[in-house]
Amino acid sequence: MKKNTIHKLILGCFFLVGIFVFWDFLLFSRLQIQKNHDYLEKALSLSKKMVDSESEEFAFVDAVAEDVVSPNVKMLSETYETEEKVFDFTVTADESLKTGNYDHYSVAGSDGEYKVLLLNISIGKNKYKLTFEDLSGNTTYKDVEVFRKSPYILGASTDVKIWINGDDLLAVVAKEFSLPSDYYPKDLVAISDFGVIGLGKGMVIRKVAAADLKKMNEAAKSKGFDLVVLSSYRSYETQISTYTYWVNAVGKEEAGKRSAEPGHSEHQLGTTLDFTCAEVAQSGENDFGKTGAGKWLANNSYKFGFILSYPLGSEEVTGYKHEAWHFRYIGVENAVEVHKSGKILIEYLREAKL
Ligand code: DAL
Ligand code: ZN
Repeated sequence: MKKNTIHKLILGCFFLVGIFVFWDFLLFSRLQIQKNHDYLEKALSLSKKMVDSESEEFAFVDAVAEDVVSPNVKMLSETYETEEKVFDFTVTADESLKTGNYDHYSVAGSDGEYKVLLLNISIGKNKYKLTFEDLSGNTTYKDVEVFRKSPYILGASTDVKIWINGDDLLAVVAKEFSLPSDYYPKDLVAISDFGVIGLGKGMVIRKVAAADLKKMNEAAKSKGFDLVVLSSYRSYETQISTYTYWVNAVGKEEAGKRSAEPGHSEHQLGTTLDFTCAEVAQSGENDFGKTGAGKWLANNSYKFGFILSYPLGSEEVTGYKHEAWHFRYIGVENAVEVHKSGKILIEYLREAKL
């Protein structure tokens, strides 16, 4: 064979091997990308977490990825949202950083198992968007929700586990069930627009209850009773102030019998009103329940959809002292049913909803 031909053959062999290696590399990369993509899809399994302690401003969130050969993934950024603030921060980590504390998070565990430490959790609901990016540049996002209990909720109601829907007229608002801190009724209207007098400005009620409130007020008037609304919708934040006021005034144990902790007040629903009347002011009689208006309301409010939430002798069931002034709207049909059954409101609600 000529030298020239041998050279050509050797070059040809190199060329073929080169093509093969290049092809294999492409194939391998594609497989690797696919594997990383699968990993990303499987990452992060947990979406909700309660934070139990008053002092804990952090929570661990488990991120579990199954069937991962190599955790060839780095977590790039987390977006941390609260009601007021949204801020991004970027962190980078890969498998060489599986344990340890970092500014905003730490990851720990064996392949495919991570614990993400989220710091500075605000009271109430916190939303995080965890961004993962693999080494090939594929990204995926996982939303995580962390709920930090109010310090006020810890003492009396360590069992708060369910967030209830405040829009539901029959929402079970009680010591053991909490409204989300960011829940507020969307259809509040001024009671003054319905001819009802409030002590101070800004008294409101959900629109769904306004027409019946108007009828009740007119019926009371026709009997010679002038109802006055003393307190109406209270936001989660307002309830923090209300509850704190009572804790400072009478101590925590007694406060718990008179005031709901934030998230646990029917006033946050926008369907609940505290009433008083002129007689209370004139006679110096502090107990609305002993006045003509108070008695009339206790006996007739159900016809207009309102129920006395904390009647005399119900302390064992409700956890609150008798409140002759506190009425909640649940709709006429439901209220008539509660009245007929003789049940305390919370008993009726628990049976209806749980
Ligand atoms: N006073 C009642 C229990 C409340 O704070 O909602
Ligand atoms: Zn009240």
